[in-house]
Amino acid sequence: MPGQGISTRCLLATPTAIAEAAERLRAGALVAFPTETVYGLGADGLNPAAVARIYEAKGRPSNNPLILHVPDLESARQLVSHWPPEAQALAEQFWPGPLTLVLPAAPEVPEIVRAGNPTVALRCPSHPVALALLKAVGRPLAAPSANRSTEISPTLAAHVIAGLAGRIELVLDGGATSAGLESTIVQLALRPFKVLRPGPLSPSALEAVLGPLERWEGQVQPGALQSAPGMSERHYAPRTPLRLVMRENLQQALEACPGACGVLLGEALTLPDSIVQCVLPEEPDQVGTALYALLHELDAAGHRAILFQEPPVGDAWWAVRDRLRRAAAGTGGSR
Ligand code: TXA
Ligand code: MG
Repeated sequence: MPGQGISTRCLLATPTAIAEAAERLRAGALVAFPTETVYGLGADGLNPAAVARIYEAKGRPSNNPLILHVPDLESARQLVSHWPPEAQALAEQFWPGPLTLVLPAAPEVPEIVRAGNPTVALRCPSHPVALALLKAVGRPLAAPSANRSTEISPTLAAHVIAGLAGRIELVLDGGATSAGLESTIVQLALRPFKVLRPGPLSPSALEAVLGPLERWEGQVQPGALQSAPGMSERHYAPRTPLRLVMRENLQQALEACPGACGVLLGEALTLPDSIVQCVLPEEPDQVGTALYALLHELDAAGHRAILFQEPPVGDAWWAVRDRLRRAAAGTGGSR
């Protein structure tokens, strides 16, 4: 994809670079920055023209709302028309961290951030660079993941550059992100409260504070107004076809598909040397941390297909399974 002719600079996230980034953001620029989940593509969240540039740079459908990032709980409260006790309890317990709360929006939240919804998604990230940047800007930052729409989210500055060079002004390089999957999103604007997107923070941790929560696992039709998160099936997709295969069927599937590589959980299979296999630990948080970087790498390596061992069902693997299922659907590899 050709860029838009903007010269993109990548700076190590030093205090000087963060101060420069804050200044650029206040002037309407697009700046990618690390969070503990994935890199975000930031713009001044109260400047509709700057926010419009996010949609353009990503090629993001205009009906998919953005998350506003804030440095603390007090800043979040100023962006909602109602702050329920459940929001207070979750924010006190889990912010800063990989949790996004969907709440009724205050009138000053621009319509373009909300994609016309009456609600706004809010998150206080824990990455020190993200927090320092938010404090220096002094305004909320609208920030989706810093990838082209439907592609894999970035966990390294190099992934951001590969996808968005020529389309954004600056990338702050803070190394690899730690959690690796996008934040857990909880809808607290209407009852019943619901987990809209699984993420690094498990539903059971939220339920320990709020009591039982619904889990949204449906699909949104492309083009439909997305009152649930922008979860059209084609999302998080590598270019290489990806298929989920039960472990007991993997050997046969790999032997039947020359040029494919296997991704195993726990232990390698005994296979001919010609078949490439990557082995991940059978531990969901570690797989979450490594997943996107591995998919970026396998995509670049030009395999014919990626055959991924199907992870176990259940809350612990929900976030990883969700991303893999979408990756499979996006490449036509879903079962
Ligand atoms: O970890 C994260 O959340 C990362 C980092 C950069 O903070 N951000 C991120 O943003 O994943 P994005 O735009 O890739 O995903 C935001 C999700 C979308 O699925 C969107 O539909 C949903 O949040 N969302 C935003 N506002 C919403 C709202 N008012 N109601 C329901 N869902 C909303
Ligand atoms: Mg995204």
